[in-house]
Amino acid sequence: MRKKIVAGNWKMNNDLAETEALLQELKKQVIPEQVSVFVAPAYTNLQHAFESLRDHPIAVAAQNMHQSDHGAFTGEVSAAMLTSVGVKTVILGHSERRAYFAEDNALLAEKVNTALQHEMTVIFCIGETLQERKEGNYFEVVTKQLEESVFHISEKDWPHIVLAYEPVWAIGTGETASPQQAQEMHEKIRSIVASTYTESIADSVSILYGGSVKPENATEIFGQPDVDGGLIGGASLNAQSFMEIVNAFV
Ligand code: PGA
Repeated sequence: MRKKIVAGNWKMNNDLAETEALLQELKKQVIPEQVSVFVAPAYTNLQHAFESLRDHPIAVAAQNMHQSDHGAFTGEVSAAMLTSVGVKTVILGHSERRAYFAEDNALLAEKVNTALQHEMTVIFCIGETLQERKEGNYFEVVTKQLEESVFHISEKDWPHIVLAYEPVWAIGTGETASPQQAQEMHEKIRSIVASTYTESIADSVSILYGGSVKPENATEIFGQPDVDGGLIGGASLNAQSFMEIVNAFV
């Protein structure tokens, strides 16, 4: 059975007090046993979130990290720094990092390697832009992202990888991929993992959907056979809507 996962990507939202307030709301909720839940606050609040959630099933993830272990990289944060404050999961390859911070497939491959060396779990984001969707080459775009950033890893590393399909045109836009569009892409992703590695690795990797997931559409999206959960932006900033999404699996 593949792991069901819902991860909240808080992006550059919530100062310390707001982080604590949202965590308090979330901590009152019962987390269903079959769902792994993550929240990804800003760097400055990771340690606090980890301490606050110490006896709680919600785990903490980082939104990014640098590929080097240490050095003269002003403003950056390393894998060792994250693990030293209890953070063992990192989101890499988010389209906002790719678009606004020029993170390309080769750089992301380095980040994946560094995270794995530090025994972290990677939630790796892939997805096409609106133009690529319109041009009809979205399978190729996503395949290339995987080939150039993830498919160099060894079979034994796959238990540390979660994939997140996030069509760029659906992120923060209110526009969601239809459940059929999500399923089509997720099935494709699983099939290329199977042909590059093994059926068993493809069967075991959780593939999340991200892009305007809301309580109203989560059940239908999560109901698709190859969708194993979601990476949630806007709707994760409110405890009630996030929990409705966490509880959307049927
Ligand atoms: P959204 O963001 O849910 O606000 O569309 C998703 C994401 O960027 O991971």
